[in-house]
Amino acid sequence: MNSILPPEARPSIALRPMTGAKRDLESALQLSRAAGWAYRLEDWRIAQVLGQGVLAEENGQVIGSALCWPYGDAFATCGSIIVAPAMQGRGLGRALLTQVLELTGDRAVMLNSTAEGTRLYQSFGFDALGSVHQHLAQTSADHPQPSADLPVRIARANDLEALLQMDQRAFGADRRRMIGELTQNGAVAVVECAGRPQAYAICRPFGLGQVIGPVVATGTEDAKALIGYFLRTNLGQTLRIDIPGDSGLGPWLTAQGLPEVGQVTTMIRGQHPAISGPERIFALASQSFG
Ligand SMILES: CC(C)(COP(=O)(O)OP(=O)(O)OC[C@H]1O[C@@H](n2cnc3c(N)ncnc32)[C@H](O)[C@@H]1OP(=O)(O)O)[C@@H](O)C(=O)NCCC(=O)NCCS
Repeated sequence: MNSILPPEARPSIALRPMTGAKRDLESALQLSRAAGWAYRLEDWRIAQVLGQGVLAEENGQVIGSALCWPYGDAFATCGSIIVAPAMQGRGLGRALLTQVLELTGDRAVMLNSTAEGTRLYQSFGFDALGSVHQHLAQTSADHPQPSADLPVRIARANDLEALLQMDQRAFGADRRRMIGELTQNGAVAVVECAGRPQAYAICRPFGLGQVIGPVVATGTEDAKALIGYFLRTNLGQTLRIDIPGDSGLGPWLTAQGLPEVGQVTTMIRGQHPAISGPERIFALASQSFG
């Protein structure tokens, strides 16, 4: 793995696969904290279990990370690309990305880039595709709560296959392993039509509190009904939701007491898989997972 390190890198720096060992997860947690990211140890565990990663290490100290999540043979996302502040600007980000793109192989790769990452990704052939807006706040019991107009209910075990198919049509690739894992970690709600789920959302612990995502629906009314359900059932909690720029939900979320607190650029290298049905992604599973 070390052959891709730049000549100016110190010989003591090594790249190696990230494992699920406690030591790797705790080191990654320290790294994300140093970057100001609010990941928990459990968030790193889930990210590692569902994907593949590379760590950069020097003298037993983890100084960089990069992960990817393949969805079938044609598509993958990557993220958690972090270099320790003291080690930045020496080619380590470039080396980590090179390594992780070897893991994704011929797949098209999508990621959500911070302002700091954009130039690096452009130099690897990534093009801007859109934006993702992070909305986050501690919800208040005093804030007017969205009304419950549509029939939202908690998903049942026999809804799962319908949810997975909806997700695949909206995302463009089969991410059933990931969605299956996320449903185990949180609450799943659906909007029902004629006895069948026609939209779904997951709300699960992540970062500073709970994250609502993914939200998959055919239109904004169903998406708002699902998000509204989780707003009402999580009063007083810190709630986060990451929405695509074209979701049309931004002003509504702000009016519900969830203002925008950050923005990243969605970038892609290769061809995005075709979206095959009427459903769309109204909120991401996470900025890393897409
Ligand atoms: C983005 C990041 C991973 C880059 O790592 P790095 O080791 O500093 O990057 P490299 O030294 O390999 O530089 C690669 C390219 O990135 C660009 N770059 C690096 N730091 C940058 C910065 N702060 N702002 C803008 N561009 C930057 C440069 O164009 C450089 O290209 P060059 O070598 O042709 O000049 C690092 O700044 C970081 O960890 N930032 C905080 C976490 C983060 O935002 N990660 C991106 C998540 S998508």
